[in-house]
Amino acid sequence: MRVLASVLRDYEDLGLEELELDDPGPGEVLVRILAAGVCHSDYHVVSGDLPLPTPMVLGHEGAGVVEAVGGGVSRVRPGDAVVLNWLPSCGHCRYCLDGRPELCRQPAVAAQHGTLPGGRTPFRRPSTGEPVYQFSLTGAFAERTVVPEAGVVPLPPGVPAHEAALLGCSVLTGTGAVWRTARVQPAESVAVLGTGGVGLNILQAARLVSAWPRIAVDANPRRLETAQGLGATHTVLAGQGGELDRILELTDGTGVDAAFEAIGRPETMALAFNATRPGGRAVLVGVAPPHVDLRVNAFAFPSQAKTLTGCWYGQSWPARDIPALARLHAAGVLTLESLASRRYRLDQLEEALQAMLKGTVTRALILPSG
Ligand code: APR
Ligand code: ZN
Ligand code: ZN
Repeated sequence: MRVLASVLRDYEDLGLEELELDDPGPGEVLVRILAAGVCHSDYHVVSGDLPLPTPMVLGHEGAGVVEAVGGGVSRVRPGDAVVLNWLPSCGHCRYCLDGRPELCRQPAVAAQHGTLPGGRTPFRRPSTGEPVYQFSLTGAFAERTVVPEAGVVPLPPGVPAHEAALLGCSVLTGTGAVWRTARVQPAESVAVLGTGGVGLNILQAARLVSAWPRIAVDANPRRLETAQGLGATHTVLAGQGGELDRILELTDGTGVDAAFEAIGRPETMALAFNATRPGGRAVLVGVAPPHVDLRVNAFAFPSQAKTLTGCWYGQSWPARDIPALARLHAAGVLTLESLASRRYRLDQLEEALQAMLKGTVTRALILPSG
């Protein structure tokens, strides 16, 4: 079948192409993509900060409809509304059995190679037959894609695709960082460094568990305004110095119970650690390039008994947590509408990425088949 896709040909070189897409093989599913969020992780690949093979179809935060299933697929049927799960764990390795499916190696290895598990590449350039890779076992910036059965999560009825898409990355990641990794308790104080797509969900998750105060730190004043709408009780404009002092001032000089970094820079990661109170938790959610090291004061570790921890995909179980988040949305508890702020066609991906970088959108959405 022929499909239109936005293809990353080489770093910083994106273009619309017509590709050949295989039928779903055993254990695989063909999904028509209705909406796909533009996440900063996609940009990390465009810029080369996350080095991956090209040509590649990016896009990992998506929702759509199942159109066909391969042999042995039992959990979804054609016509089902689904959200993409970019970390389809194997279900039987040591990490999966430990309840930490986000650490499963099978999808991690496939993602490094831009393939499905086992090395299959369902996208091809029709003229040359050259394989086209897909980002993190998804490839949502295309009219259709083929993913493993575990790479789709059926949605309860009533969530439109342009809102559901966000559940697959930024909402799952942000809420999981607060509820699972940091286990924030009512009345605990939090600081969120970087209030983009992921950080805003960290803030709303902190609001939902009655954390207070909820301090938003961002270099972009527009993002801070949005943060106030989604749960920030205090805002700190970054980039002028004094961010740490301001956070300490707001927490009686001790620092916050839990600090979250959702930018992906070593300086702000160190700030998250420094802004955490003795005995508190600093959670790193942002993704830095693989060669980057982080410097924090060694003495503060034992003497202040702080926890510095990472959080990958919200430490979530997508098949359990995505429907739960959809129910919270249906109940009016979780906000999705104001997160998905502007829609673009498939051939406007570059424009959407620029809008994300400038911070003129909250979350840009690509509508590939509409
Ligand atoms: N200080 C403060 N804020 C900053 C700085 C800085 N030095 N640099 C960037 N920011 C802010 C931006 O203004 C923006 O609001 O960080 C935010 C990043 O938001 P997005 O671009 O929407 O990125 P998002 O998709 O939320 O991803 C954030 O999490 O999952 C990872 O790979 C992802 O590393 C990325 C991070
Ligand atoms: Zn993402
Ligand atoms: Zn596993």
